[in-house]
Amino acid sequence: MNTPSTTLPLELKDVWLSAGNKQVIKDLNCCFSARPGCSVIIGPNGAGKSMLLKLCHGLIQPDRGRITWAGDGDPGLRGQHQAMVLQRPVLLRRSVRANVDFALKVNNVAGDERHRRVDAALEQAGLTRYAQQQARELSFGEQQRLALARAWAVRPELLLLDEPSANLDPAATHLIEEIIREATAQGTKVILTTHDLHQARRLADEILFLHRGRLKEFSGADKFFAGPENDLAQAFLRGELLWWRRRSIYAPGEDGEDTGKDILKETGKRRSKDGRKDR
Ligand SMILES: Nc1ncnc2c1ncn2[C@@H]1O[C@H](COP(=O)(O)OP(=O)(O)O)[C@@H](O)[C@H]1O
Ligand SMILES: [Mg+2]
Repeated sequence: MNTPSTTLPLELKDVWLSAGNKQVIKDLNCCFSARPGCSVIIGPNGAGKSMLLKLCHGLIQPDRGRITWAGDGDPGLRGQHQAMVLQRPVLLRRSVRANVDFALKVNNVAGDERHRRVDAALEQAGLTRYAQQQARELSFGEQQRLALARAWAVRPELLLLDEPSANLDPAATHLIEEIIREATAQGTKVILTTHDLHQARRLADEILFLHRGRLKEFSGADKFFAGPENDLAQAFLRGELLWWRRRSIYAPGEDGEDTGKDILKETGKRRSKDGRKDR
């Protein structure tokens, strides 16, 4: 890894973001330190996890607030030092091997080192036997593995992963998690989103719990899983339906958020307080 870091610490200050006519990130403050490790963003569907990750990568700009990388805030300096894998990976119309090779080439990795890293990336992702196949012909799970292996092959300082193993079977998930572990062991900072609490427990050094665009808790993973301070985070850990539970925690309509009534209207269903459908 290069020292000093050109990407970390990554700091978000008073960040607000809207999409359509909705505030999707609200007054968010947090700092990802330069310490290697895995920061996991959890929260229910629609909480704003993917949006937060895109902000962290500089793919989208906040409406208000400030995001700085290594205290500078100049996106030009980050360059090749951070990489992001989207939930639906974008692969080049080339072979599996050429996808990794191209990423290394544009990052100025040449010669034997490039060949070696391509071979290692494909082996690690369990894709060696598909090396000459068209990348876009791979199964969805194989494409996710390839996208991660390609991103990690360039050895970024910061790796951002949006739901890296959503919809994958346990074997494929294991391969993905092994790559993530190796990345952090070699000094890369990984920030990933997941709605899978088991995965968060396996990988996280620290947890960010996001709910309706607000960062409700940011703590060490051990502390979080021993018992989060925030009541919504506690409910999430218990596996409760947060869109309903929050009505009993906040006054309806706080922050202009919906209260679940719209969902009831839409589905025509009635639910009892514990989230079960009324008969
Ligand atoms: N292009 C968009 N236009 C309007 N709303 C959007 C758009 N993209 C995302 N959203 C909304 O932003 C909120 C957060 O989305 P997202 O970050 O994808 O949630 P998560 O990843 O936690 O499931 C959701 O309510 C989603 O519907
Ligand atoms: Mg998402």
